[in-house]
Amino acid sequence: MSQTDLLNIVHRPRRLRRTAAIRNLVQEVTLSKSDLVYPLFVCPGEHVKEEVQSMPNSFRYSIDNAVKECKELWDLGIQAIDLFGIPEEKTEDGREAYNDNGIVQRAIRAIKAELPELCIMTDVALDPFTPFGHDGLVEDGIILNDETVEVLCKMSISHAKAGADFVSPSDMMDGRIGAIREALDDAGYSDVGILSYAAKYSSSFYGPFRDALHSAPQFGDKSTYQMNPANTIEAIKEVELDIIEGADIVMVKPGLAYLDIVYKVKEKFDVPVAVYHVSGEYAMVMAAAEKGWVDGDRVMMESLLSMKRAGADIIFTYYAKEAAKKLS
Ligand code: PBG
Repeated sequence: MSQTDLLNIVHRPRRLRRTAAIRNLVQEVTLSKSDLVYPLFVCPGEHVKEEVQSMPNSFRYSIDNAVKECKELWDLGIQAIDLFGIPEEKTEDGREAYNDNGIVQRAIRAIKAELPELCIMTDVALDPFTPFGHDGLVEDGIILNDETVEVLCKMSISHAKAGADFVSPSDMMDGRIGAIREALDDAGYSDVGILSYAAKYSSSFYGPFRDALHSAPQFGDKSTYQMNPANTIEAIKEVELDIIEGADIVMVKPGLAYLDIVYKVKEKFDVPVAVYHVSGEYAMVMAAAEKGWVDGDRVMMESLLSMKRAGADIIFTYYAKEAAKKLS
């Protein structure tokens, strides 16, 4: 006797799940290689490829190796990177951040020389560039807002001059998007875009990243500028302000624990929305997979897909290369 004889029901959603072909036909969202941005850490030296201990299969590269890595990414179909630099020298004024010959600026030029079509985004914040590990300038233990924004403008111009396609301010200072937009325009870089880390939470998921960049805050935490994980209204306000100030793309960060925010931002605003699948999210899955407790690859792909379902158009992830291989 078949099931239909037992229950008199019209709607059987399982009909749409019966075979792989049917499931594929009715699949609602898909993850594509073109959604992915690979965060890349560049460090001083030559021939360096150093694994970040808390981020298996993620590395700090010297510029020569970063270029090689970018070629590999490009061949895999990944069309965008986000560059993070570890400077030669950390100073209280963070001046390496806007040195035209600094680590990030040299990396941009070297990568663009080989791969002119690769979209290069650059992190704009001061945390790796000062001994304090804070995203802004520090005076008497206070993170200065307006003074920091001035430095971020210089940093953005310097990245644009080197050939960056997008700057991505991740600092959460007030008013920085408008100031950077104006500074870029005045310097003749009106075609350089701004991806703003608009709703960035004060999160414990950033730990491994701070190991990677040697940028852990030396005092306090970042809660006077990054957002309280309990808040939603504040996220909408931050995103709205950044769009008004000229952001081309807005980001929500971290990812999985904040998909409700991604969803709301996507519903409310008509700009591309990015999400950052951050270092701690990556590290947790890698660690559990290493223990054999989860199937790491499947958990990663499911995580990325759920970000798309929540409404993200763009995903920053350390898993981009592996994901691209699986999508090939
Ligand atoms: C710093 C910055 C951070 C990340 C991106 N840019 C760390 C922080 O705010 O402390 C986090 C990325 C990650 O955890 O993967 N401006």
